[in-house]
Amino acid sequence: MENENKKIVLSCIQPTSVPTIGNYLGALKNWKYMSEDYDCYYAIADLHAITVRQEPAKLRKQSLEMYALLLAIGLDPEKNVVFVQSHVPEHSQLSWILNCYTQFGEASRMTQFKEKSQKHADNINVGLFDYPVLMAADILLYQADYVPIGADQKQHLELARNIADRFNQVYTPTFKVPEPFFGKVGTRIMSLQDPTKKMSKSDVNPKASVSMLDKPDDIVKKFKSAVTDSEARVYASDDKPGITNLMSIYSACTGLSFEQIEKDFDSKGYGDFKAAVAEAAVECLEPIQNEFNHLINDKAYLESCARTGSERASYAARKTLRKVMKKVGFWQV
Ligand code: TYM
Repeated sequence: MENENKKIVLSCIQPTSVPTIGNYLGALKNWKYMSEDYDCYYAIADLHAITVRQEPAKLRKQSLEMYALLLAIGLDPEKNVVFVQSHVPEHSQLSWILNCYTQFGEASRMTQFKEKSQKHADNINVGLFDYPVLMAADILLYQADYVPIGADQKQHLELARNIADRFNQVYTPTFKVPEPFFGKVGTRIMSLQDPTKKMSKSDVNPKASVSMLDKPDDIVKKFKSAVTDSEARVYASDDKPGITNLMSIYSACTGLSFEQIEKDFDSKGYGDFKAAVAEAAVECLEPIQNEFNHLINDKAYLESCARTGSERASYAARKTLRKVMKKVGFWQV
């Protein structure tokens, strides 16, 4: 794959739980889309995951499942480098160096750090604070041109750009300054129970999110109980966050524009619309689930793909890390 003329793409996902339809529509769908035309590096961010306390056996299992799911969405492990972050030590090494080029003040402004500090008040560890610097290392190691992400990661990407710029100015151009890549719709899928909040894998209310591995019946039930409003007319508006969110999901699953959706459901109620959204979500997820169920039984294959992935990732990462170490003045023997 390493083709000099192709643009480079990198993105990661935490193996903290089964990903939601928000992760899929906001990020993973674009990973697959970009995998056809770019040199892509996709990783499971297990180093990031331990900034919140994890059960070891569960984390291990979820990492394997996440790997299977990445292949199940259609990422070809031969054409793309699909790997596990902790298998490539260069991520931690570059992250330490970049810490010394990141200001305490700019890291303190990260809204996700503030939110997570509130949520995990008993464990505000240094890793949680340092999280975006590790993310910058993930991206800059591979000289990524594009980073497909959901809207919640925009601020972290901005920080990675600032760190790259700063390092390039202190020394000579070393890192490519990456651009975020957002899909047209679905960059911020909201909770089905509180549509003013982001849909999250870690939500304690199971009705708030649809997991990529939910059974069709459960998906239908969850959309049926989605919080909307009392107007009973399908159109997008800031004061109709529930319906607007369902329209985003429907649009991202079917490719239909908001105008078309409004027309199609003009004389129909919320019951019909919710049923249609559920059907579209099931149609979108079912082929992935079938492929996942097949792959998850072949642990040897998944392990062998992950091993090859980390070797290929390490090869690319080492090139950048070596340059960085030379520039900062480490004695190389
Ligand atoms: P994570 O694991 O929380 O989410 C993975 C991807 O899914 C997107 N996403 C969403 N998109 C739309 N609607 C939602 N409700 C929603 N929830 C999540 C996220 O924006 C993300 O793109 N810090 C990252 C992982 C990471 C990373 C990186 C990403 C580590 N290193 C380097 C890009 C580049 C995270 O926690 O994503």
